[in-house]
Amino acid sequence: MHTLDWSNNCLSLINQTLLPNEVEYIECHDWQRVAEAIRRLEVRGAPAIGAAAAFAMVLGAKELRQQNLNMPELKEKLTQIADALRKTRPTAVNLFWAIDRMLTVVNQVPETANTQDVIAALQEAALTISEQDKAVNEQMAVHGASLFTAPTAVLTHCNAGALATVAVGTALGVIRKAWKQGNITQVFADETRPLLQGARLTAWELMQDNIPVTLITDNMAGWVMKNNMVQAVIVGADRIALNGDVANKIGTYSVAVLAKEHNIPFYVAAPSSTFDFTISSGDDIPIEERSESEVTSFGGNCVAPTGVKVFNPAFDVTPHSLVSAIITEYGILRSPYTESIKQLKQYCK
Ligand code: MRU
Repeated sequence: MHTLDWSNNCLSLINQTLLPNEVEYIECHDWQRVAEAIRRLEVRGAPAIGAAAAFAMVLGAKELRQQNLNMPELKEKLTQIADALRKTRPTAVNLFWAIDRMLTVVNQVPETANTQDVIAALQEAALTISEQDKAVNEQMAVHGASLFTAPTAVLTHCNAGALATVAVGTALGVIRKAWKQGNITQVFADETRPLLQGARLTAWELMQDNIPVTLITDNMAGWVMKNNMVQAVIVGADRIALNGDVANKIGTYSVAVLAKEHNIPFYVAAPSSTFDFTISSGDDIPIEERSESEVTSFGGNCVAPTGVKVFNPAFDVTPHSLVSAIITEYGILRSPYTESIKQLKQYCK
């Protein structure tokens, strides 16, 4: 299984909208198909969409080869493609981080270079983003697993696994490592309405690795905690502000409030590319709102009256006061986050 794979000028993506019923790959030969896949959530999860967008930039440059553009024209066209890719999803900052990194590469190519040089530079940059994501997740797993020193049952929300990244996963990477060390007894996976990333993806991924997983509906999390069935929560993130406020899949905030009430640590695992060093708090994070049909239907069947008013935010923001620690590839950040995130920023220069 691979989340995304680049070979022979083609980006292959596992179609996450069909899992777990069908394991099918989408072959993207142009950047527009990658943009479509990001919009439709065929590829989803903050690091995975960043890496997919990076390869979309390579495909865009290849497409422009036939147009015999001069260097300023080529750079202008690539900037337009980058702008279109930025519009696919607004919340996960990894998308913008990867696109900015690719544009920096474009702008560093000398004016005397040709289109082939730009393509080669972009391809190298996209492969680096993809390889680094795997390495970063492995480092995060090591740091995160150190938080689990005794057999623990954990709860997770959405899918922050290999499917949400290039490989390994963020929160699930930590769980995998801690499980190998004998410190995970059970993973409770919230189903994660409306699109069921927990039921369809997290449960599937963990079962593939024979990690004990129990699926619950989102509204069962409080009762599971009340009955001492979990001792820790660990989730991923889509964007983290300078003060440690965390945007993640809708429902994460409710889980964090419940964890606080039950004195259960609430951990976030996220690479440095998920931090937005330009915003001071979660109030500045754009929250994606998606189609009403995601709420009015379940498994393709309509479950609400026609014409009902719907609110469908895809993410929420958990205030930093509810976050026990943030696991990154550089180590574990603790409160006060304004200080620890300032230090992290130094590493990312
Ligand atoms: O809408 P999605 O499925 O892209 O949302 C994904 C999440 O919220 C994940 O928890 C987050 O991206 C972390 S991925 C390692």
